[in-house]
Parts: sequence; C-alpha cells; structure tokens
Amino acid sequence: MNNRLTRLAAVGLAAGLSLATLAGCGGNQATPGASTPAGGSAAKIALLLPETKTTRYETFDKPYFEEALKTECANCTLIYNNANQDAARQQQQAESAMTQGAKVLVLDAVDGKSAVTIVNQAKAKGVKVIAYDRFVAGSDYYVSFDNQQVGKLQGTTLVDILHKAGKTSGDLVMVNGAPTDANAADFKKGAHSVLDTAGFTIKAEYDTPDWSPDKAQAFMESQLTTVKPNLVGVYAANDGTAGGVITALKAGGVSPIVPVTGQDAELTGIQRILAGDQAMTVYKAIKPQAQDAAKNAALLAAGKPAASSSTQEGVPATLLTPVAVTKTNIKDTVVKDGFYTVAQICTTQYADACKAAGLQ
Ligand code: BGC
Repeated sequence: MNNRLTRLAAVGLAAGLSLATLAGCGGNQATPGASTPAGGSAAKIALLLPETKTTRYETFDKPYFEEALKTECANCTLIYNNANQDAARQQQQAESAMTQGAKVLVLDAVDGKSAVTIVNQAKAKGVKVIAYDRFVAGSDYYVSFDNQQVGKLQGTTLVDILHKAGKTSGDLVMVNGAPTDANAADFKKGAHSVLDTAGFTIKAEYDTPDWSPDKAQAFMESQLTTVKPNLVGVYAANDGTAGGVITALKAGGVSPIVPVTGQDAELTGIQRILAGDQAMTVYKAIKPQAQDAAKNAALLAAGKPAASSSTQEGVPATLLTPVAVTKTNIKDTVVKDGFYTVAQICTTQYADACKAAGLQ
C-alpha cells in the first residue's frame, strides 16, 4: 500500500469506513481542516466530478474546491470521486457517498438526465444537491458559467478571425460536446446563434460522445475528403476536442491550418494558440466557481439557504462570466489570474511564440 493510501485508510478507518470502500474505483477520501477542530459544522460533503480526459477537473476543480471547503467549513469532511465518463459509476458513487453520511452532494453530472435519479434519491434522504457546472433539474442550487454565452464567444471570435482574414463565405464544421451534457447543448445553441447567420455554410456537424478527443479526431478525419476544398474554420466545443480536430487537420494536409475554436484554457490549448494551431479558447475562472460551490455546500449542510443571484428552471443559481482568449490577451487573463505562470506556458518549444506575444 502506498503512503497516500495508508494515510487515506487511516482517515477513513477513523471515520468508520471500510478499507474496501476507500480502495474502490476512482474514489478517495480527504479531510479538509482535520487539524482545525474549532468552528463550522462537521458535515460530510461529496464532490462528484465527471471525467479525467479534460484536465480541469483533477488540476483545478478538485484542489480549488478542497481548499475552499477548508476555509468555509473547517470541520467538514470531503468525499471525492471521479466517474471517468460513466453515468452508472457516478450513480454508485453518489449512493455510496450518501451511505457514508454525506449531507451535500456537489454533483458535476456525467449525464444530466439520468442524474435526476440521484437528485430524487438525495431528496428522499434529506441530502442537498448542488449541480456543479452542469445543470440537473430539481437540484437545490446550481453554479456554473453563462454557457450560451460560451458558445456565442466561440462563434463571434471565429467569425471575427475569418473576417479579418478577408473571408465572408466558405465551409465550417461543428464538433460539439457530449449529447448527455446539458452544457454542450447550450454551447451549441450559443454558437449556432452566431454561425447560422454569418454567411458561412455549416457543412458537417457532430455531437462528440463523452467529449472524447479521439472521437472528435476520428470524425474530423472522416469528413476531410468532403470538406477540405472549401473549409475555412472548425467550431470545436472545448480544448480536448480541438486537439483531436487539429491533429486530424494537420495529418490531412490542411495547410495553412484553418481557425479552430476551443474552451477551458487548458495549458496545451494556450500553447497551441501561441503556436498558431488553435485560434481561441474560452477561459472560465474555475477558482471562483469552486469557491462558490464550497461556500454554498457549507450553507446547505448547516441547514441554511444557498446564496444565489439568479435562477435556472426554478433552481437558485449563480452564473459566472466566461472570457474569450486569443493570442493577444493570454497575459491579461490566464496569466494575470495566476491560472498559469509564464514559465508553465513558455517552455523552450514556445519561447519564440511567447516573446512575440509579449509573454517573456
Ligand atoms: C464543461 C467544460 C468541459 C466539458 C468536458 C462541460 O460541461 O463546462 O468546461 O470542457 O464539460 O468535460
């Protein structure tokens, strides 16, 4: 058993959990504020994230939430699971968290529709659910970004870049997100609201199962013979799918590369923007999102109402503002916010591009 598992096991056994539970698929247990006995309730809070192929979850959402929960509720215990894109697994993880006594589920649903079952089970047990990033009907609180606005930013930035290059017509391909993710529908709606009337032809469109970069790549490859002659740009819903699309375009000899959109400001996405391979990404500041979720998890665990600024389908909600990022504002967005340091972005391979973009 490695040191981490030994430590987790000690924590879990102290909390009356079996080692089998702790060693279970994709799960682990941590105790924020365990060394700070005073203040706050002693509730268990579960954070249930959807997948690992998109870097945000393990790199930002989980650590930011864990850190914020220590501040918001020193005596709260965090139960953490990632479902690896498997809705049935997420269902089990939610049930297991409730069996362990979780008072609040912070749920980033793999499948928004089937997650309603989790919400109903939670309601029956008096457990509160925060829909985190992806909306789930019937939840107690929802924190996310304005997701249609994300799609609009992707669409308008793509059109602006094409116009600057003197292009007002030609073919576009749309590689959307997962059909099971409510956000993907919003991104798509926002993007269509711009692209449908911009003078270009949407030649092919695909909803990428599981947001899988490999499937996005395979789709782009399958379309290339048909679309290559008049292709002027590709709408890709996030940086993972953009990566797959760009690989396919390069392998298919699309040169110069056409503008490709993205989302999440993943490190590799920012580096592709600097290198000229990707046109834009959308930066969503995950820290305030995770902090807001932790604050509201603590409120709900203490039997208080969530602090919201709007509603979505009757659910109290907070929607944060996304920002479009191109080569020109990397410094003023992700670097300024400390999302990445210049050193992280500007490795040797990107030194020249960084200099040209004023990053070094
Ligand atoms: C999130 C995106 C993410 C995608 C894939 C969406 O629900 O809002 O940030 O790229 O899921 O995980």
